[in-house]
Amino acid sequence: MERVEFSRYVSPEYARMEAEHLWPNVWQIACREEEVENPGDYFEYQILEHSILVTRTPSGEIKGYFNSCPHRGTQLAKGCGNLTQFTCPFHAWRWSLDGENRYVHDRADFVGLNDEDLRLPECQVGRWGGFVFVKLSDEGPSLEEFLSPIAGRLAPYKLDEYRIQSWRGTIAKTNWKITLEAFEESYHVVGTHPQFLYSIDDVGASYEVLGPHSFMGTPSAAPSERLGGDVDQEEIIESLMDAMTSVELADEAGREALEKFCKDALASGMSAREMFKSMGMARYGKIMPDLKGEPHYVENWNFTIFPNFVFNINPGMVFGILARPNGLDPDSCIFEVVSLQHPCGEDLPKAARRMIDDHNYDWGVVLAQDFSNFERIQQGMHQRSAKASRLASYQEMRMANRNTHIDKYYETIER
Ligand code: FES
Ligand SMILES: [Fe+2]
Repeated sequence: MERVEFSRYVSPEYARMEAEHLWPNVWQIACREEEVENPGDYFEYQILEHSILVTRTPSGEIKGYFNSCPHRGTQLAKGCGNLTQFTCPFHAWRWSLDGENRYVHDRADFVGLNDEDLRLPECQVGRWGGFVFVKLSDEGPSLEEFLSPIAGRLAPYKLDEYRIQSWRGTIAKTNWKITLEAFEESYHVVGTHPQFLYSIDDVGASYEVLGPHSFMGTPSAAPSERLGGDVDQEEIIESLMDAMTSVELADEAGREALEKFCKDALASGMSAREMFKSMGMARYGKIMPDLKGEPHYVENWNFTIFPNFVFNINPGMVFGILARPNGLDPDSCIFEVVSLQHPCGEDLPKAARRMIDDHNYDWGVVLAQDFSNFERIQQGMHQRSAKASRLASYQEMRMANRNTHIDKYYETIER
């Protein structure tokens, strides 16, 4: 058993330490490449008080500019859009998309200005799996080194070809780490998602740490051993469909079509497990030839990319949680639910991000169950008696691992 101090989740001092030492020094996902698809497209990524303009240059490169005018500091752009150049709204200085200054109003009045000082300052940018990563500091490992414990396992999925299916964000009233932890173990299925026991085998889940990152594999389309067998194949499908609609990997129409297909297949004597395997392989087998029927099509694989992206991956489908602090408040975070899908040669419509502030918004049964815990966990950790968690050695190893690796950012830059 491992114990993790609750102060890591509730104390303002700890949130300040993360803001000072972790976030400026760690590689983190800013957006998908498709969000800056064309030259001039920009996307503003915000983490704490930092604002980075992720920008596609005319040569197709992606750069990240600190969003601050070298003249008197004004932010050059907000949100996202397409520009032919950056023009400061205050005194109209201008920069090319490559960050070179093109114009200083009344330049003769500025003695000692040189072109190098006038370049837009850049942060580090890395691309992997269709994601654009940024790192604000210059030190530390390259993105390649940072992802090396995990990248090889994910290569066969061809993540760089996936497109955004749905990207929903909201403010969650809990610490950013709490939201991620809720997706890093199958231990909570019994308490939080009992209906899931029909379609995933929580008992058979395996866990692994991969440097700062981590992994969990849970047999899917098969019932939990805890139910003692004798589970109807239709119940398995119903439970899986609930999960898919909840994360917008299937809409209601898609769900109905899929359910009908599944029921027909079951009538022909297939098990839900065989059916999901053959259905998945028929669609993705040729595109992702290195993925095998077992385990890839019948296990829910779940990875954490340190520090703040946790995602389930099945061939052709990703459902992930991306969470980061909401300013310096330890009790809230920016929580995003990300679904990606391989287009399989189809021309998928471009999906835009949505920020959801309606408290009555329907997140679907599975996410609603997880959400219902968030605030209670945070409030519970604030109680006078509450000091530290008690983590299961195996099934909860991933929570301990994140905290261990956050600490390394307080010692030195992780290598
Ligand atoms: S602050 Fe940007 S041009 Fe003056
Ligand atoms: Fe959950």
